[in-house]
Amino acid sequence: MDNFSAGNSGQVINKTNFDNYLYADILETIDLGIVILSIKRQEVLFKNKSYSEIFHNDKDVLEYKGLLDLLLSHHGKNQPSEVFGKHFTLKYKNRLLGYTAYMVSDNYIWIIIRDITERSRLETIAETVNSMENISYIFSGIRHELGNPINSIKMTLSVLKKNLGEYSPTAVEKFVDRAMTEITRVEFLLQALKSFSIFENPDIQNIKLVDFIIRFISLVGNDLHQSGITINKVIDHDVERVNADSRLLHQIMLNLITNATDALENKDNPEIIIRAKTKDGLVAITVEDNGCGMSEEVQANLFKPFYTTKARGTGLGLMITLKMVTLLKGSMEIKSVKDTGTKVTVVIPEGKTDD
Ligand SMILES: Nc1ncnc2c1ncn2[C@@H]1O[C@H](COP(=O)(O)OP(=O)(O)O)[C@@H](O)[C@H]1O
Ligand SMILES: [Mg+2]
Repeated sequence: MDNFSAGNSGQVINKTNFDNYLYADILETIDLGIVILSIKRQEVLFKNKSYSEIFHNDKDVLEYKGLLDLLLSHHGKNQPSEVFGKHFTLKYKNRLLGYTAYMVSDNYIWIIIRDITERSRLETIAETVNSMENISYIFSGIRHELGNPINSIKMTLSVLKKNLGEYSPTAVEKFVDRAMTEITRVEFLLQALKSFSIFENPDIQNIKLVDFIIRFISLVGNDLHQSGITINKVIDHDVERVNADSRLLHQIMLNLITNATDALENKDNPEIIIRAKTKDGLVAITVEDNGCGMSEEVQANLFKPFYTTKARGTGLGLMITLKMVTLLKGSMEIKSVKDTGTKVTVVIPEGKTDD
């Protein structure tokens, strides 16, 4: 028998009816915004829960005209029919929405819509991870960077060996010092590479950001003070916790502060500001300096391994920083104006707050 009892109403319905209930139920609960418009009646015939949630129950958009304006007219096309069947994205109140509209029997428009903000962020992260996997490029850089000082050490020592009998102790000392300087450079490089692989398995905790920043400033404040640099913090009231590995976050901040300090050399009123604000379940931490800033060319090369404008730089700092930020499922953005200053913003997931 094809009859079913629907709910506890006791009403007996046949299979066709049951299917309709089932489909209506699926449409209502599916994790996709669905809305059906009637062109003749110029009204919204059906909207499901996900659709209302995507627009935060925003009245203007939930109505027939508001929705058509938003979804179908914003391409600058006169005929809505030109958008049917194609996939579009749209920025709506800081969220990224993806949608497709379909025309059915010349009267109904079906629109399927989804919030793809998080997905597009994850895609950006995946791309970043991919581009970091350019191992052969990195290795050729390492060969070059280690090769130079080692060649120089070899030459210094062989000249010294040939002339040992003739050189005065002061001359010998000069050669030894030269070799030592190059060895220090190699050590510096090895140290930088060590921090590249040290945090392979991050230990993500729910960290109270204000406490972390206060502690961080107390650790670096002395060195900055000695270089005449003022450090300040501006933390928005709603910033509470972040999801992060505190060692990684510390290392990230340290790398950014080191760059800011270098950029502030010989500047008037050198200052670093650490800012924190929340946005859509994420926390943005910015390290801002009023230092030398960067030219377009420097900005284009920032994340290339071994790219540096400093005599004693490794050119690995920002690359390693980006790798660590990626491990925290975050992203990084750099804004800089030559001779004015630089802002580096690291965006990481917000943690759970204790109520
Ligand atoms: N805050 C900043 N202000 C100005 N220039 C910067 C800043 N941060 C980074 N840079 C530029 O980016 C380059 C690469 O930085 P990084 O990867 O940390 O390597 P390094 O500091 O060893 O040079 C630096 O040499 C510098 O030219
Ligand atoms: Mg650096």
